[in-house]
Amino acid sequence: MHSFHYKGNTLYCEEVEVQAIVEEYGTPLYIYSYNAIIDHFLKLKNAFRKVSPLICYSVKANSNLSILKIMVGKGAGLDIVSGGELLRAKLVNCSPEKIVYASVGKTEKEIKEAIKFGIFMFNVESVPELEKINVISQRLKKIACVALRINPQVHPKTHKYITTAKKETKFGMDIKTARKIFLNSSHYKYLRIIGIHIHIGSQITTATPFLKAIKKVIPLIRELRKRRFPINYFNIGGGMGIVYYKENFQSASAFAQKVIPLLKTTGLKVILEPGRFIVGNAGILVTKVLYIKDTVYKRFVVVDSAMNDLIRPALYEAYHEIIPLNRSHKVTKSQSHKLVDVVGPVCESGDFLGKGRKLNVKEGDYLAILGAGAYGFSMSSNYNSRPRAAEVLIKGRKCYLIRKRETYKDLVDKEIIVKI
Ligand code: LLP
Repeated sequence: MHSFHYKGNTLYCEEVEVQAIVEEYGTPLYIYSYNAIIDHFLKLKNAFRKVSPLICYSVKANSNLSILKIMVGKGAGLDIVSGGELLRAKLVNCSPEKIVYASVGKTEKEIKEAIKFGIFMFNVESVPELEKINVISQRLKKIACVALRINPQVHPKTHKYITTAKKETKFGMDIKTARKIFLNSSHYKYLRIIGIHIHIGSQITTATPFLKAIKKVIPLIRELRKRRFPINYFNIGGGMGIVYYKENFQSASAFAQKVIPLLKTTGLKVILEPGRFIVGNAGILVTKVLYIKDTVYKRFVVVDSAMNDLIRPALYEAYHEIIPLNRSHKVTKSQSHKLVDVVGPVCESGDFLGKGRKLNVKEGDYLAILGAGAYGFSMSSNYNSRPRAAEVLIKGRKCYLIRKRETYKDLVDKEIIVKI
């Protein structure tokens, strides 16, 4: 399935020429391939079919309502982390029984709204949070289902900012604390503690850390089942990595084959929370070359997208491949030693999209930044008072605008000039 591919020298998304899309909608522009999203979802679903898991798409990766609607339409549930994401889930008619809710800092208002809506379960990250949910449930005269998020203290080899299961990270609770809570569960009269949740980090490209983490919680699961605690669900979180550049490629089925045997031994129903795996490589960010700036040290390709549009390179030193929409300008031998930095207009040295790239481009050319479907638009901001990009979705020959480009008016709409 060719989501983004060249026909001759011209880049296409599905059956539409990317240049034609940007000529209509302008740049910076996020473009997503419908069929790539579906393909990734089905690959995962199929890989895990032996345990028929509930797949809750992680909204934070890309929370555009059209994308959520597609996922929900295909039977996915949603993994949410805020009241705002709950609103999104409601707007796409996600059934409440398919919503799981994580976050170390759920507010009272958020908890209340989620209980009222009747979500499937909270992934609870601390004892005080558990107490709080119990009290609010009592007030609402409703029983809330929860899973305890355990921090299994494993070290997935990924960027330190997206590692969530080391002992010094803020997420989840240690196994001892979780065990104590289970043994004391009669204290929480308005809760049903029915599951265990882990999420060890993101962009993890081998099954090994998952296996380690699962193995760490299995003894507790066994003990609880032996003692007839009503525990039914094992949520192994998200985190499956994708190929941005030269990462180890691990297919969904290779990953599933490794973890399924262990998961089966628990006898629990499995929940998955994939984000990046579904949308990461289903999206690109298209940008226009504004200037070629040569200095004595370097050539800078200054483009009209910046760290406010895609913060991953600045924040995690993430590598995103950058390719021209038209590749007819080959890199000539004399230029091939000349590596360029692709940078945006924002006033920060960290504002780069790629460093040391082999690119032969001129003013006015367009570039596609690949692997931008996950944590691209959803992490974008208005820094430097830059309106956020538009988003379009391509399905076959059809092109749908799924978010309008922000205007200058949008930038200042909520602000108040006070007379002092
Ligand atoms: N479940 C939980 C509890 C999570 O915290 C996350 C992501 C996911 C699932 C989905 O993880 P995924 O399958 O997408 O790896 N902004 C970073 C990634 C942060 C991930 C936060 N949590 C980045 O751009 O790499």
